[in-house]
Amino acid sequence: TVPTITLNDGTRIPQLGLGVWKMEDGAVSGIIRSALGAGYRHIDTAAAYGNEAGVGRGIAECDLPREEIFVTSKLWNDKQGYDAALRGFDETMGKLGLDRLDLYLIHWPMPHQGLYVETWKALIRLREEGRVRAIGVSNFLPDHLERLIEETGEAPAINQIELHPRFQQAAQREVHRKLGIATECWSPLGQGEALAHPDLKRIGARYAKSPAQVILRWQMQLGCVSIPKSANHERLRENISIFDFELTEEEMAQIKELDAGEGRIGPDPATARF
Ligand code: A2P
Repeated sequence: TVPTITLNDGTRIPQLGLGVWKMEDGAVSGIIRSALGAGYRHIDTAAAYGNEAGVGRGIAECDLPREEIFVTSKLWNDKQGYDAALRGFDETMGKLGLDRLDLYLIHWPMPHQGLYVETWKALIRLREEGRVRAIGVSNFLPDHLERLIEETGEAPAINQIELHPRFQQAAQREVHRKLGIATECWSPLGQGEALAHPDLKRIGARYAKSPAQVILRWQMQLGCVSIPKSANHERLRENISIFDFELTEEEMAQIKELDAGEGRIGPDPATARF
C-alpha cells in the first residue's frame, strides 16, 4: 500500500496518486477503475482538465467506500475572487458528484489579477464549512506563499509545482519546508521526457526497476507527493510498484546532478517560461 504524508492541518494524503491531465472525459473513468484496481487511492484532477464528470463517474462506479479515495481538484484562473471561487467550487462538486472534496487548490496565482488572497479566503471558508478537508495552491512562488500567510495567517497545506529530475526546484522545496507546506510534483516524469537518461537506467537496473520507477522513488524519498499520469494499465502498475526498494544516498546524489533548471516557472500559465 501507498504510504501517506500528514499535511500541516493533520490531513493524510497518499504520497502517490494518479494525475489525469489531458485524459478525455469519456476515457478517464475506465482509467480510474484500472488505477483503483492497481492500488491507487488518490486522484488529481482540475476544473481546467474538463474531465471532472468522468472522474466522478469512475469513483461512483467503483466499489470502494468514498472515504478510501483521496480526491483533489483545482480552481481555474477565471474563477478567482471570493464569490467566484465559491461558485467555482460548487461547479466542480456538481461535476464530480461528490459532497466533500479532499483537497482543493488554486491552480495558478495570476498575480496581475490581484485576486489570489481573496480566493484563498474563500478556500479557508470552504474548509471551515467542512466541504473540503485540506486546501492548498499550485504554481505559487515564494512571494505569493508569503503574502497568503501574512494576510490570512494560514499557510497552504500543499503547493503543487512542476518537479522532475530536469527541474528539481531545490530552492522552492526549501521554502516549503520552512513554511510547513508539502511539495507535490506535477509532470513528475517530465511528461515522459525525463525517462531516457542513462544514469536512471543504470540505477534502475540494480533493482530491476525502470527509469520511471527510479524517478518516482526519488520523489518519495525527497518527501514529495507525486501524481504520475498514465492511461496504460501496465504502466499504472509499474508506477505504483515503488515501495519495495530504496535508493541509497549516493544514488539520490547522482539524481541531483541531473537538474538542468528546465521547467515551467512563473506566476501565470500564459507567461510561464518553459
Ligand atoms: P502513457 O499514458 O502512455 O503511459 P507526466 O506524469 O510527467 O506528465 O508523464 C506522463 C507521460 O509519461 C504520459 O505520456 C505517459 O504515457 C508516460 N508514462 C507514464 N508512466 C510511464 C512509465 N512508467 N514509463 C514510460 N512512460 C510513462
